[in-house]
Parts: sequence; structure tokens; C-alpha cells
Amino acid sequence: MRTRENSSSHALVMGGVLVTLLLATPGCEGPMDELEEAADPAPAAAVASPDAAAGGDTHSFARPMEARVTHMNIDWTVDFDRHILDGTIELDLQRMQAELAGELVLDSRDLDISMVEARMDDHWRETPWKYGDADEHLGRAVIVQLPAGSTQVRISYATSPEASGLQWLEPAQTAGGSHPFLYSQAQAIHARSFIPCQDSPAVRVTFKATLKVPAELTAVMAGVNADANKKETGVFHYEMPLAIPPYLIALAVGDLKFAEVGPRTGVWAEPALLSESAAEFADMEKMLNATEALYGPYRWLRYDILVLPPSFPFGGMENPMLTFATPTILAGDRSLVALVAHEMAHSWSGNLVTNATWSDFWLNEGFTTYIEKRIMEAVYGQERAEMEWVLGRQDLDKQITDLAETPADQVLHIDLSGRDPDDGMTQIAYEKGALFLRLLEETYGRDVFDNFLRDWFDDHAFASVTTSTFRDYLQTHLLDTATPAGAAGAPDVDVWLTRPGLPADAPAFTSQALTEVDEALASWIGGTTDTADLPVAGWNYQQWLHFVRGLPDSLEAGPMAELDSAFNLTGSGNNEILAAWMRQSIRHGYHGVDERLERFLASVGRRKFLEPLYKALMETPEGRVRAKAIYQDARPHYHAIATRTLDKVLAGD
Ligand code: BES
Ligand code: ZN
Repeated sequence: MRTRENSSSHALVMGGVLVTLLLATPGCEGPMDELEEAADPAPAAAVASPDAAAGGDTHSFARPMEARVTHMNIDWTVDFDRHILDGTIELDLQRMQAELAGELVLDSRDLDISMVEARMDDHWRETPWKYGDADEHLGRAVIVQLPAGSTQVRISYATSPEASGLQWLEPAQTAGGSHPFLYSQAQAIHARSFIPCQDSPAVRVTFKATLKVPAELTAVMAGVNADANKKETGVFHYEMPLAIPPYLIALAVGDLKFAEVGPRTGVWAEPALLSESAAEFADMEKMLNATEALYGPYRWLRYDILVLPPSFPFGGMENPMLTFATPTILAGDRSLVALVAHEMAHSWSGNLVTNATWSDFWLNEGFTTYIEKRIMEAVYGQERAEMEWVLGRQDLDKQITDLAETPADQVLHIDLSGRDPDDGMTQIAYEKGALFLRLLEETYGRDVFDNFLRDWFDDHAFASVTTSTFRDYLQTHLLDTATPAGAAGAPDVDVWLTRPGLPADAPAFTSQALTEVDEALASWIGGTTDTADLPVAGWNYQQWLHFVRGLPDSLEAGPMAELDSAFNLTGSGNNEILAAWMRQSIRHGYHGVDERLERFLASVGRRKFLEPLYKALMETPEGRVRAKAIYQDARPHYHAIATRTLDKVLAGD
């Protein structure tokens, strides 16, 4: 089924140039009938079962099958003194079932709502509303009485300083050190902490936004800057003309400057990091061209990256047109740009074709991890891609071991009901998902599989899809029509989608460059090779990471110190190598890293690095004392997403 597309023209400013564009806006049947799998795509055919009413999404109170938010007009004053966004939001509604839509149910968390109005006959009138019961994970429903015939609601509100989707930084937490900074992170269900909305990935909206910020700061949003001729000091206008799920709404405010990288690509960063960032990401345009060659046109107008302060809890976040990224990938040698490939890949898998519920998260991340590796191969060659596959497989094996007690969480189509979706987002979705796609590629041949994926994206563009939609599409568009290339036959798709662990037909692969590292490590451990004679000349980042990861548990502090004095691993400018090395140092009682470790934990907020480091510290009594002391000072600088995880680690759970 193809999503119906309506063309409309928009005038927008891109890279300082005013352009008029023909844009596709999705037809109303997209996400809804994907969820419903309805035979008749007409909206009125939607069935009002409780599940369908909830959009099939157990992480949202909203009932988009009754009335669906299609567009938002956002107006915010960004208050750095009080740490709040203060303003209004207008919601345009499409009534799906007139007789049922007596109320509009929205998601919220910690919002301070002062007034709700509905628009009738060209006038705004206050309308009754109430909060639903609070839920630990989901926040609170906002239930608005909807006068018959009204299709617009306006909410006046302010966010809480503790809004889970916003982080307010002091100047000292930025690169420049003299201006405050604000950024949002809405995935998975944090949009509701700064926008009352139908916070489900099955709902798609366009928006227009006005942001008022202190005169010396710049506001950016994932969207198009709509300030054609103006500039009224401290007022910024953005527009998202393509329909996106709320978890992709994003803003940041700080001392930000822009540098162009290619015709469609660029970097936003604090001035101190701008040229470094532009150099690190110099291959963006090449990556974009490579992805288009594989999976069809890039539909998001521009691809820019915003380099955030180091407290950002993730590596990257695929906010449309403006990926948010940690500065910890600025290695100086482009060695960590797989992250750029990953976030860019989401422009197809995730932002264009979106998981309809968080149980379908692997459709976002598994596809994206697979595409990321295809981009790396196209731009940097097969050897580099193969190394990254091997390192990814190591992550997966470790994740399966860590989840040994909870086999249900080793499944691609994961059950997350009653839980915070952030807790279900493991390497299973990423690496097991990617391996499954690699198996399909190997089974049916690259050309056939590439065409299949390209069609999948085209046929579901701007729609939200479930695992069962994919299962059916796979059956009819690949399994039933293509012939397996080898003797192994067709994969058992249902085992891949619904069973724990790794199926026996998982692709196996090796990397020659990493095998050489294994050999060097073995002969060093066996005493045949001296530290000074290790053949490290020309080793790349992946080889070093593999080497450090491979250091055996039995190693003592002495040989660790020898490695450090020979290769200065504690001084590594590559944060992946450094974090892996510091973890090994903690585990092996090597204290040469202590000072570097403390500086790292005090400044970096990326959860992927923090969690293993704190966990390693917590393994010994003296480590626990250190961990607690460091955490006490650092915790106020970490994002809530990181402290949620780390509080449990530090409590020894
Ligand atoms: N969309 C994710 C980040 C995310 C996942 C945020 C779940 C909130 C909930 C993003 O695309 C991602 O996967 N980032 C990775 C980097 C990537 C190279 C694996 C990260 O941040 O580590
Ligand atoms: Zn991702």
C-alpha cells in the first residue's frame, strides 16, 4: 500500500536562500491503517476497539483514532532564569469519528497548564479540561472537552524545570563557558514533558514554531528556519513541513554558529568547536549521496548536525534535518563517523518509515544499524565496514549474556507494556535487527535485497509501521518472489522476530585486520612478543578498540602499565578507545588512569560510556567508595536519562 501524497508548495529559507518547494504531505490514512491493517483505507473505517482507540500504543494515553492532531503552532519564551519554556501551543485536529470525539486526550508530564481553549466560529473560547491519573512511566493524560465541530485547541502552559525532555546547562557546562545552553531529547516518550501532544510514534504532525530567547543566543530546531528577511533580535521562526512523529521534535538554544560542509549539509556548534566539527564531518555530503544511491532520494531538504555540550546522554539523535550529536565523536581523524552514518540512515529507517509503537523499535534501529554499515562500506570500503560488523557482533554477544535472566528481552518484537520504553532499548534491537537484515541480504543477494528495501521505504513513506506490517510485506515482496541464492534456503523469519537468543543461521563473518590484532594479542599474552614489539604501526581505531576489548581478565596491573607507557592509551584522543581502556584499567587495578577517569566522569554525560565505567568501579569495595564520591559531584551535571540508569548502578542493583 502506498501512502497518498498531497502536493503543496512552501517558501522556505535554506542555507540563507529562499526557495519554493513542492512538498509531500502524507495522506490521513498512513499511520492509522498501518496499525489497524484495515482492508479499507478510508479513515472512517477505523474500528474503535480500546486498543485501536489508544492507537495500539501502550505508551500513550492519546486516542488518535477519534481525533488526530495533524499540525501544531508553537510559541515559546525560553526562560533561562526559571528553566522553563512558557507559552502556547495550538493543535489542529482531524476528527476521525465525529460522534466519538467529544474529548481530546493528550499526553503530558509535569506540565503546568493554565488555560485550554477551543476555537469555534473564528473565536477562541475557554473549554473545560482535567488531568487523568498519574502513571509512573507515562505521565498524565490531559482530557479536553471538545465542542462539537471544533477542530482547533489552544493550550497555555509552562514546562517544569525538571522536564524529562529538556536539559538546562550552566555556562560552565559548555565549551565556551560564558553562556547557558538548553537542548531537548524527546525520544522515546519525553516530548510530552515539553509539549502537550499525542505522544505516540503512530501520530504524525507538521509544525510552525516561534521561539523567543535571550538576545545573545541562537535558537535552532529540527526543521527549516523560516526567517526570510527579518531578524527581530532574539526571535526565531522554524517550520517542519513534513509530517513527523512527536519524538522527533527538537530544539536547542545556546551560543551557536553554523558552518557549511556541502550543498545540503552543515554543522551547528559552539564557536570553539565549529571548525573542528566541520572538519570531522567533512564526508557528510558523500555519505548522503551514497545513501540516496542505495535507498532513494533524501526527502528532508537538508542534513545538518548540531554538536551538543558533552552532557548529552546519547551518541546521536536523528532529529530530522538536524541530527543532535555528542562532542565525544570529535576524534580528529573521522574515525567515529559511523555515528553520522547511523543518524543519517534514520532519515529513511525511522524518520520516513517509523516504528508505530516502541515494541517495534527494532524497525527503527535494526534497519538503521544495517544501513549505517552499508553507508560505511560505500564511503570507506569493505574492510572498515566488516570491522564494524565484528565489533557490533561483540556488543550483541555481550548484550545477550547480560540479558540471560530475561530471555523475553532478547526478542526483536519486544513486549514493553508497563515499562518505560527507554528501558527496552538494548543492542538486541540494533545488532540482532541488523544481523537479520544482513542474513536476508546474503540469502537473496544484494541487488534483490537493496531493491526490496528501497520499495519498502517508498511504499511506507511518512507512515508508521508495525512488525506485523513488515512481516507481511517481507512475505509478499521477498520470500514469495525471490529465490534464495545458496543451499541454506529461506530463513525462519518468525524465529528471528519472536524468539530469544541468536538463531543458528545468523551470518558469521571475520575481519582480517581484527584477526591480526587477535594474533598479536595472543602472542603478547603468551610472552612471545614484547610490548615494544607489538605490531601496532598503522593500527586504526577499530583495531585498537578490538585490542583493548580483548585484554584478558587475568591480566595484572603491571602489564597494563607497560601498555600505557608504550602506547599512551590514557592519553588517547579517541573516546571509544579511552573509555574501553579506562574500563579495563579499573577491572585490572591499574591506577595510572585515575586522574583521567575522574575528569572524564565529571565532564562526559554519554550514558554508553558512563554505565560500564561506574559498573566496573562498583565491583570492588574501594571502587564503590570512589564511584559514590565521583557520582555525588557529577550527578547534577548528568541528564535525567543517564541518572535514571546510573542511580540503579550506584545503588548496586
Ligand atoms: N535514536 C537513537 C537514540 C535513542 C534511542 C534515543 C532510544 C532515545 C531512545 C539514535 O539513533 C542512536 O541509536 N544513537 C546511538 C548511536 C548509534 C551510532 C548506535 C547512541 O546514542 O549511542
Ligand atoms: Zn539509532
